[in-house]
Amino acid sequence: QTAAKVLVASNRGPVSYEVRDDGSLHSKRGGGGMVSGLSAIGPDAGALWVCSALSDGDREAVRRGAGEDGVLMLDIPADVHADAYNGIANSVLWFVHHMLYQTPLEPVFDAEFRRQWASYETYNRAFAEALAERAAPGAAVLVQDYHLTLVPGMLRELRPDVRIGHFSHTPWAPPEYFAMLPDDIARQVLGGMLGADRLGFLTRRWADAFEACCERFAGGLGGTRIGVHGLGADADFLRARSHESDVSERMTALREEIGTAPDGSPRRTVVRVDRTELSKNIVRGLLAYRQLLGDHPEWRERVVHVAFAYPSRQDLAVYRDYTAEVQRVAREINDAYGTPGWTPVVLHVKDDFARSLAAYRLADVALVNPIRDGMNLVAKEVPLVSDEGCVLVLSREAGAFEELGEDALPVNPYDVIATAEALHEALSVPPAERAERSKRLAAAATALPPAQWFLDQLNALTGDGA
Ligand code: G6P
Repeated sequence: QTAAKVLVASNRGPVSYEVRDDGSLHSKRGGGGMVSGLSAIGPDAGALWVCSALSDGDREAVRRGAGEDGVLMLDIPADVHADAYNGIANSVLWFVHHMLYQTPLEPVFDAEFRRQWASYETYNRAFAEALAERAAPGAAVLVQDYHLTLVPGMLRELRPDVRIGHFSHTPWAPPEYFAMLPDDIARQVLGGMLGADRLGFLTRRWADAFEACCERFAGGLGGTRIGVHGLGADADFLRARSHESDVSERMTALREEIGTAPDGSPRRTVVRVDRTELSKNIVRGLLAYRQLLGDHPEWRERVVHVAFAYPSRQDLAVYRDYTAEVQRVAREINDAYGTPGWTPVVLHVKDDFARSLAAYRLADVALVNPIRDGMNLVAKEVPLVSDEGCVLVLSREAGAFEELGEDALPVNPYDVIATAEALHEALSVPPAERAERSKRLAAAATALPPAQWFLDQLNALTGDGA
């Protein structure tokens, strides 16, 4: 075991494994904004990436010692991990930061919550101990996201010599909402994070909210520094990857599904690609599209809503219910408006990265309408990849809005009628203006490529930067 000078820690790692019927292990890349951003580090950077084993395949890979170089998967007991990941991280902290609770009935912080919280502490401690064991003297450790808020404080006690950064890939709740957490838990989360030398956020808005929470619950930031790093899209990777043959094949198949308008011209597309995630607002997006078809009959037969909603966090009933609701509303629209030659909504729920890129290339309009989102990389990726340039309809509650708002059509994510009008406007933008807008969006989207985003944080932490 060699000691590493740079370590990254996150719940989800860069790869996941699956055991095939013949007993062989098959690896595939992890998903979501956090992993996409960090993947730029690559195996050559000499960094050690500490993550959790998430599936039976991952646990088998750990047992066989089959992991990739530069990746250390922690085999945390499945029940502890489930409490920490599903119970606390995804049902409490994610809900707080994205303000997802339906407050008349939830949250309820009871004995079950306290039991799960104890698992969250155990799980954070497992990370802190692994990092403490593998860090070289004076190493830089970059801890990621709401799963690991206690790690900086715990690691600080075990290894006062290392430099500790933490980065939040989510929004941060305003203090009035954060105050829903039991006081001791609120203090523990903030205190854990303030164990870091430096904390990073995706936008100024989230950084300010964090500071406000610290003022209220922790008596300020202490000596911890705060930085804002707006993760951008990886243009080189995406442009190259989206021109590979598997993407072209899927474009052909998708074109067939989309079909042509009665006058023989290709149909327009409104494209969205998300994890089936409560905060992504997929259902209201569908309702807005239905409103568009109702209010602007001229688009019937001439447009298709291409919606890819990939399974996410399916251990949680609310996510399963939400997935079912997305499918139900899509079916309803197709039943109400579809004709023998036209399927108004093409919905796919099976994860397929090459097909997502195919949809990006065919996008006339990109719909990104989250009710709240740390950044949203899809908003940055589609303008970069779309063949003809696309018009972006963008929620003003997405972190990406700070950087892209000027060239996007802004929407209030709750306002279905305004979103329908924005879709109509987006579909009506003349080609030249659309190409211009898309070019400016692509430039803003790539201002801080992932590799630079990571280096900036590392330099800031080790003192070579601001
Ligand atoms: C967001 C979070 C990431 C997470 C990703 C996917 O982007 O900030 O930390 O990895 O969602 O969610 P999952 O629960 O599948 O890891």
